[in-house]
Amino acid sequence: MTDGGVAAVFDKRAENYDKHTWHVRYAERLVALAGLVEGARVLDAATGTGMAARAAADRVGPRGSVVGVDVSAGMLAKARGAANVEFVQADATALTGVADGSFDVVLCSAGLLYMAVAPALEEWHRVLAPGGLVGFSTMREGFPLAAGVFRALARDYGLVLADPAAPLGTPEKCAQALSDAGFEPADVVVETVAFSEDDVAHAWEAHTNGPHHDEVAALTAEQVRDFHDRYRTALAGVDRERLLNPEVLYAFGRKR
Ligand SMILES: C[S@@+](CC[C@H](N)C(=O)[O-])C[C@H]1O[C@@H](n2cnc3c(N)ncnc32)[C@H](O)[C@@H]1O
Repeated sequence: MTDGGVAAVFDKRAENYDKHTWHVRYAERLVALAGLVEGARVLDAATGTGMAARAAADRVGPRGSVVGVDVSAGMLAKARGAANVEFVQADATALTGVADGSFDVVLCSAGLLYMAVAPALEEWHRVLAPGGLVGFSTMREGFPLAAGVFRALARDYGLVLADPAAPLGTPEKCAQALSDAGFEPADVVVETVAFSEDDVAHAWEAHTNGPHHDEVAALTAEQVRDFHDRYRTALAGVDRERLLNPEVLYAFGRKR
């Protein structure tokens, strides 16, 4: 997807995005693991509706600062109004006008899936001060299971969809990507995050308006209806415990 395409997709998703309650658990966990200290200067890259940015602002306090950057005006419209956070519409992989070494911490919750990883990490390395921390979250390869069911069925409609979690989907891949961008890899925490039943029920929206948006948009309305029916049936047969508790990674690196 192009940057314009990503922005348009998230402009559409903005209205319902916060109804998927797992997003907030996922974003807040990344912030908690980052160990932010009072007074820190934080960039929340791909801030969306500002979940991680708000949690970060609570931790860094009034002496600190938080800037949330996103390409989607629709997502930012939902984010604005948070205390002590400045929201800016911009490409987080090309922070034109942001001086080298401007931040102590760069966080990116659930955003790298939509970006070219190397340029993003290199840009965050540039805007971090020496000793600064980068932290991002991503799904472990093969998770969430509902997305795997979606991709398997998509083949019946002529769509061959790669797992978007694959490029960063193991601790080793995260550490390698961090190291390639010049960071000293630090912790990679592997955990599960809890989906609610409602999150699973709404996952179709994320599958069709996420990384595979362009491919799915090429299907006819009838194909989409049939696909959706078969997806719901297939999902009912998946192990509930694993479906509701996808494995995720929180990866951290330091600028030397
Ligand atoms: C799945 S949402 C995550 C939002 C938020 N960080 C959270 O944890 O809920 C992905 C976000 O990445 C944004 N995004 C994708 N590519 C971007 C880029 N190059 N620069 C800035 N934002 C981007 C999208 O607009 C969207 O808001």
